[in-house]
Amino acid sequence: MTSIRTIPTEPIEGQKPGTSGLRKKTPVFQTHHYLENFIQSIWNGIGGVAGKTLVLGGDGRHFNSQAAQVVLRMAAAGGAKKVIVGKRAILSTPAASNLIRKRGADGGIILSASHNPGGPEGDFGVKYNTSNGGPAAEGVTARIFDATKEIAEFHIMESHDVGLRMTDTVTLGEMEIEIVDPVEDYAALMQELFDFDAIRTLFKSGFRMRFDAMHAVTGPYAYTILEEILGAPPGTVINSIPLPDFGGGHPDPNPTWAKTLWDEMMTETGPDFGAASDGDGDRNMIVGRQCYVSPSDSLAVLAANATLVPGYKDGLKGVARSMPTSAAVDRVAEKLGIACYETPTGWKFFGNLLDAGRATLCGEESFGTGSDHVREKDGLWAVLFWLNVLAVKKLSVAELMVAHWAEYGRNYYSRHDYEAVDTEAANGLMDHVRSQLASLPGQSFGPLTVESADEFAYDDPVDGSRSEGQGLRVGFAGGARVVLRLSGTGTEGATLRVYLERLAIDPAGFGLDPQAALADVIAAAEAIAGIKSRTGRDAPDVIT
Ligand code: G1P
Ligand code: ZN
Repeated sequence: MTSIRTIPTEPIEGQKPGTSGLRKKTPVFQTHHYLENFIQSIWNGIGGVAGKTLVLGGDGRHFNSQAAQVVLRMAAAGGAKKVIVGKRAILSTPAASNLIRKRGADGGIILSASHNPGGPEGDFGVKYNTSNGGPAAEGVTARIFDATKEIAEFHIMESHDVGLRMTDTVTLGEMEIEIVDPVEDYAALMQELFDFDAIRTLFKSGFRMRFDAMHAVTGPYAYTILEEILGAPPGTVINSIPLPDFGGGHPDPNPTWAKTLWDEMMTETGPDFGAASDGDGDRNMIVGRQCYVSPSDSLAVLAANATLVPGYKDGLKGVARSMPTSAAVDRVAEKLGIACYETPTGWKFFGNLLDAGRATLCGEESFGTGSDHVREKDGLWAVLFWLNVLAVKKLSVAELMVAHWAEYGRNYYSRHDYEAVDTEAANGLMDHVRSQLASLPGQSFGPLTVESADEFAYDDPVDGSRSEGQGLRVGFAGGARVVLRLSGTGTEGATLRVYLERLAIDPAGFGLDPQAALADVIAAAEAIAGIKSRTGRDAPDVIT
């Protein structure tokens, strides 16, 4: 028997206005009615779920299953028509985005804190995506935020847990629940976009790959697509079993956290190609044998070679990158004669450009790359894109990069993160740089002369909205640049991100280590911002 209960409650703290979801320590989500309050706030913010069809799934982290049951009960209580849920409540973020679009759903709930560690003491999160498959836009998130401040009661169906272990269609009260294989539709989409035969032939020729799923959600996706469908040798996918605490690791695909893969790739006898993905499957890291590909370079390489791939054979409508991402893709766009948009950090800004058909590919320096096939960044998609390009070009990753730089120049790039910095100190540092912006142009720091300095603001060319305060940028003559911004996703104190870039045109200068190549830019950033004294840190916590 089922019955709907209305439970009085109180407003919740914690959502940052302007974000499409809520990310908190898992124990916070587990406190009395916290999750319920946020889900009800989403329902209230979107005008209720009566008669609607929703997609539901998560990255499998601790509390994923219990949270999914709460969402199902609350969707049923709100009168939703149907919920399409991944088996065991699993869906990667891009797979959820695909399902929302493919099924014409009204929206979806994704249970994930992305690349943040999981487990009882880790992080948990809830995101709401709209009918285009992408993160809710600012108008919607503002209404959800307002709802969290006004909530007085929530509605939930009292029932047993819904069995989600097998694909099936069941009901909860009046609501239909369709339990789907989380991989199937996504694998079909990948098969439409990429030349699977060419990739199969590549693997048959002895090409060796290592994919580190980091015990997160892409394990089953990568195993099915790479090993089962594309015939990659057994063992290609490592750490493929998703675990509630990601095996104690930090499911963030970068040189620091994907160190096992990194070490293997940096040996002379390492695999031809390495890749990793994050907790919810939307990020990717690409590494060749002894050749790391920065995410900014990866975006540029994909743009330059897109027509080699069936899904993009007719060319790109345009490309987009977040402001702190390097200008490598700008140089490709210029050659191709297509538009290149510079957006604020965060995936939601790409959605409008993709929806309006102004951009086909987009990406961020933070290991996010994607296209108009979904409305989220997509880790495995980027990996398959690379495999398709390598299969056609018949070059090693290192050879491909050298050829790319020879044609477009090399944008040396690095990001230095200072984590859990005292919030006041971090704000003080930003204010200190902000106050110098007007006087910086013309000043020299070592060999670098400032050409421009401003605080980035974005006017959305599609909906006309303006986003201000999106990072401080200092451009130097010759294409070098320093960008400073505070993270919007950190959960402890403030995280200062310092983005560093320099353009090298002469092939003689292509072989440097990025940190060495950027030494003057790093020194200029220190001189302008006083990072060491203001943060009290000698060195960044994470260098990517
Ligand atoms: C970080 C990344 C940003 C990305 C976001 C969500 O945000 O820098 O590019 O879109 O995570 O994955 P930040 O913490 O810098 O605000
Ligand atoms: Zn993610």
